[in-house]
Amino acid sequence: MTKYVFPEGFLWGGAIAAYQAEGGYLEGGKGLTTADLMPIGQKRWDILMGNLTSFKPQEGEFYPSHEAIDFYHRYKEDIALFAEMGFKALRLSISWARIFPNGNDEQPKEEGLKFYDDVFNELLKHDIQPVVTMSHFDVPLYLVKEYGSWSNRKLIQFFETYAKTLLNRYKNKVKYWMTFNEINMLLHMPFVGAGLVFKEGDNMLQIQYQAAHHQLVASALAVKACHEIIPDAMIGCMLAAGVTYPYTCKPDDVQKAMDKDRESYFLVDVQSRGEYPGYVKRFLKENNLTIEMEAGDEELLKKHTVDYIGFSYYGSRATSTDPEILKTITSGNVFSSVENPFLENSEWGWPIDAKGFRITINQLYDRYQKLLFVVENGLGAIDVINSEGEVNDDYRIDYLRKHLKEMGEAIQDGVEILGYTSWGPIDIISNTTGEMKKRYGYIYVDKDNDGNGTLNRMKKKSFDWYKNIIATNGAVL
Ligand code: BG6
Repeated sequence: MTKYVFPEGFLWGGAIAAYQAEGGYLEGGKGLTTADLMPIGQKRWDILMGNLTSFKPQEGEFYPSHEAIDFYHRYKEDIALFAEMGFKALRLSISWARIFPNGNDEQPKEEGLKFYDDVFNELLKHDIQPVVTMSHFDVPLYLVKEYGSWSNRKLIQFFETYAKTLLNRYKNKVKYWMTFNEINMLLHMPFVGAGLVFKEGDNMLQIQYQAAHHQLVASALAVKACHEIIPDAMIGCMLAAGVTYPYTCKPDDVQKAMDKDRESYFLVDVQSRGEYPGYVKRFLKENNLTIEMEAGDEELLKKHTVDYIGFSYYGSRATSTDPEILKTITSGNVFSSVENPFLENSEWGWPIDAKGFRITINQLYDRYQKLLFVVENGLGAIDVINSEGEVNDDYRIDYLRKHLKEMGEAIQDGVEILGYTSWGPIDIISNTTGEMKKRYGYIYVDKDNDGNGTLNRMKKKSFDWYKNIIATNGAVL
């Protein structure tokens, strides 16, 4: 049996995002964000794709982010549970609109800043390192209404001010930073990834690629500021990763799979290597897309590259050039993929592929030769409380064990990985569907899709399992 050896000081932990956990959506003077307008149910998908019809929450709709799991008031209890599992790190995001309710206010809100100070103090008290994402799918709504969000270059300056405010305030508490969550998401769910809203006749691709450039420049400025303000900190990017397989070994399929991966990789190529790769310049030209740049942009991108590559991995994807095979594309998934006959799917149709995790890790390391950080991974599943009042989530343990083993294999190949923060260590609301029913946690939260429940927390079987993995630094895998 292979014994997996994880580096000393490996950052085991979990990851959450502000709008999926905090709730308290108007407390402490917080402004509304894009996430606060994403209802559960049929209309959600349309909105995520950029078809927003009103800038206000609508009567009769249920908005899961408004209360989420109430981490805003219960963070001490939750952090104590993470500490009991032995977490070394908690990845969480700061909600921009708690700090600047409109996104570009003259002064930051002390109440918002203090909230995160308290959360970081609580984490540090338990020797848990905060890993902070500056922007995780919640753009202040005012910026969307007034400026068209990231389609507008002005957002770069607003974000820079926000980033510098965070870096200065938390410089003694936070040593691991990340700029934009899943930066490639703006090409798949434009409202989620970048607050983009489209009108009839808009050239969507043009708007998306321009917005991507703005985020890339903003990210480089945040990297620059981080290196200046906290020289002993690390700051990374974050990619929604997952290798694309060719359906067959037909060269056209192989080429298509490579192109699919490049659609995402180009953003990290810029963030990590500091320049737009030739293949994306060609893609832009052939699609009549032009990215407007200002003098100095290219130099900024070149100079301020990230210290590590953060990424999420839920499963692999597959593609084909055969029209018959293309008919099997699974819908409802963020990344379109043809059905892979060798894999099983989760209850939400996401392919489960532990080997693909290893392949993805190896590819990323081969490509960038930089420290990696697995900042999301896990299984969204329906959990049932049995007659003994327990959740026996063996399926989750099985998923995680297989994935962790593959990560262990990659480490034996010499890949450097900073840590592993599994997604949703405590049940939180789902990004794609808004449901509570899609659970990832080691800790069960009593709340249903309609918002009913006590919000009480309860340990699942996986709680002790993960605790043991951390305690042995992965040796018992
Ligand atoms: C990632 C996001 O895309 O996947 C998270 O960074 C999200 O915010 C996670 O929650 C899982 O997706 P879902 O839809 O199952 O919540």
